[in-house]
Amino acid sequence: MQLMLDTANLKEIEQALQYCQLAGVTTNPSIMKKEGNVPFFEHMRAIKALIGEDATLHVQVIGNDCDTIVKEAKRIHKELGDNTFVKIPVSKEGLKAMQILRKEGIGVTATSVYTTFQGIMAVLAGARYMACYYNRMLDVNIDAQQVIGEIQHFIDESGSDCQIVAASFKNIQEITSSFACGASFCTVPYDVFMKGLSMPCIDKAVEDFKKDWNAVHGENVTIADL
Ligand code: E4P
Repeated sequence: MQLMLDTANLKEIEQALQYCQLAGVTTNPSIMKKEGNVPFFEHMRAIKALIGEDATLHVQVIGNDCDTIVKEAKRIHKELGDNTFVKIPVSKEGLKAMQILRKEGIGVTATSVYTTFQGIMAVLAGARYMACYYNRMLDVNIDAQQVIGEIQHFIDESGSDCQIVAASFKNIQEITSSFACGASFCTVPYDVFMKGLSMPCIDKAVEDFKKDWNAVHGENVTIADL
């Protein structure tokens, strides 16, 4: 169980790396829009340089039809190389493209997964990762935990090497629930990540311990000063 960051913002990635190792970074066209009209591949290379060679980068295609998706996937693979996975929605055209890309050895992250059936189809199409849209499922009254659990069960039973990246998070509860029902990764927006670490009760506990120490040893004396 590991964390990825759901952003294309270099500062956010740098900040998050101070708190934990990231297994990867996920982007999509809406995430890229927030960065403005940046040079696409240069920006992706900058993300890769920050997260290191062992972390994965997941880059989404724009095209809706199989031919365009395949062309985009080949270009992404050529420009960004290993440990970059091409995010392809699990639509009819997306599945067609996945069949072709599997033969070419190009790694795919199936995305826009709302249902168990889409998940099964993506596993059968050879996807290496699968972005399951937790909060978007809740929005349309789909039981996200059940879907993730069922897909993970299918992965285990079929012996596939596909790994679930739970995604589309609006709060911390959704992240912990995703891990509890079997997701291997959660990709988290920076604001949700920081929300989980910025709780007044944590700050209060730290302050209270400090006050008790100061009451005995005085202000500005640390253990290192003893
Ligand atoms: C990541 O792979 C997804 O594209 C992303 O988490 C979707 O998030 P959203 O539902 O907040 O747009």
